[in-house]
Amino acid sequence: MDGTAPGRQPEPNQGALGPRGRGLFGRLLQGLRSSPTPRREAVAIAVASGKGGTGKSFLATSLAVLLHRRGLRTALVDCDFGLACDHLLLGVKPGATLQQLLAGQATLDQVLCTSPAGPRLLPGASGVRRMANLTDRDLLAFARELGQLATREDVLLLDLGAGIAPATLLTMLGAQWIVLVTQPEIAALVDAYAVVKCIAQLDSKARFLVAVNRVATRGRGEVAFQKLTEVAGQHVGVELTYLGEIADDDVVMQQRLGQLPLVATDPQAPVAQGLEAMVDRLEQLTGGLRQRELPAEQSIEARFKQHRLFL
Ligand SMILES: Nc1ncnc2c1ncn2[C@@H]1O[C@H](COP(=O)(O)OP(=O)(O)O)[C@@H](O)[C@H]1O
Ligand SMILES: [Mg+2]
Repeated sequence: MDGTAPGRQPEPNQGALGPRGRGLFGRLLQGLRSSPTPRREAVAIAVASGKGGTGKSFLATSLAVLLHRRGLRTALVDCDFGLACDHLLLGVKPGATLQQLLAGQATLDQVLCTSPAGPRLLPGASGVRRMANLTDRDLLAFARELGQLATREDVLLLDLGAGIAPATLLTMLGAQWIVLVTQPEIAALVDAYAVVKCIAQLDSKARFLVAVNRVATRGRGEVAFQKLTEVAGQHVGVELTYLGEIADDDVVMQQRLGQLPLVATDPQAPVAQGLEAMVDRLEQLTGGLRQRELPAEQSIEARFKQHRLFL
């Protein structure tokens, strides 16, 4: 007697496995055979720069407000780890921040705030040294939370710190688009090129959209972009696309902390109009910013996890 019911033949190759082993083995095999199910996710856009102070946070908060006003479910994530300031630019007083979220001391819903101008904000911690040096465990928790958030939104804007710190590069690699914010000066362009070079070494398919901020004379943004593409094209072979320019204007500096962004308080101001045009182009270049279906291996969480192994 082999324990098989009369009239039934044992299934081939499974005789040695008990029912529990068979279940586990079967699940493992199935996991290998079938590709995981696709998921619907937000379009993730990282806002990055080489040099500090190029206007990433100004741009990211403004874009978040404008996208929200276009009826898109928009969340801004403050990824300037340890030096966060988006809450100040959006007039939000956060209770808990990304720090508590990653430590498992608060849930995503406890940390997410709705800003007075509309978009949701996942605020970062400011002046917290620990956050400047995220561990592998923190990064995995961050990937998981971003994955969760992405299933609820149309657009995720990831406002980064300047430079090429590992967690910053990883966040760029996790996003589908990188808005690279530079100024027209050569020092800023050199640092922007450094970011392109680092990312190109890790992902040759990365997509950069270049925004030139604080332009003194109309048209200088495109000239600066040409310089950057010449250098980048020659040396790294990555494709860059021009997103547009924003004028240098004192009204930006005059906004007080805690006040709503200029695009909300004075939408007719020339800088606000420039930002509006930039959003038009962003929507056009990305093919629309609605939530979309992605193969599981291209989800933000999966991309984070894959790239983390190479940093
Ligand atoms: N287009 C602009 N015109 C004038 N000032 C600007 C402009 N963009 C940004 N700024 C100012 O530059 C400073 C740095 O901007 P911020 O967005 O904090 O840069 P980053 O996030 O890249 O460090 C801020 O004081 C901001 O008000
Ligand atoms: Mg900033």
